[in-house]
Amino acid sequence: MTATRPTPEQSPYDILGGDATVRRLVDRFYDLMDKTPEFFVIRKLHPQDLSGSREKLYMFLSGWLGGPPLYVQKHGHPMLRARHLSFPIGTAERDAWLACMRQAMGECGLEEKLKEWLLQSLSGTADWMRNKK
Ligand code: HEM
Repeated sequence: MTATRPTPEQSPYDILGGDATVRRLVDRFYDLMDKTPEFFVIRKLHPQDLSGSREKLYMFLSGWLGGPPLYVQKHGHPMLRARHLSFPIGTAERDAWLACMRQAMGECGLEEKLKEWLLQSLSGTADWMRNKK
């Protein structure tokens, strides 16, 4: 499917509803990861308490979507690949992460074209995170 890019005038952050939606999306993402057997392959890599993970992904996505760069302001350059090197991430983990995000975006009511565009962009990042087969 061909996804449509948001217009240059409006960031994805604005289109999807700003801070409240980013927070809701990340909460849904981790709630799904926590309770869905299919996502256990990535849940098991995370700490028991997901509150720190929620906060970091929320801050990161805020900036990544074109909103306030909260993560960079607090933690500096994300260096995402380096920060993921201590977790074994292969194709299964990548696909589970993206499937979890797809479901969370759907349940948070993101508009279809925006959702596909964001997932297409995220799939490159997720693939870059792989450090094993
Ligand atoms: C490809 C599959 C992925 C897996 C299995 C994975 C797994 C993890 C794990 C286990 C952590 C540590 C959580 C914690 O310290 O509480 C983490 C941190 C993080 N992940 Fe991922 N991740 C993946 C992809 C991504 C992608 C695509 C993004 C961004 C779009 C992302 C963004 C982050 C951020 C911002 C952090 C916090 C880094 C830090 O400050 O320590 N991850 N991830």
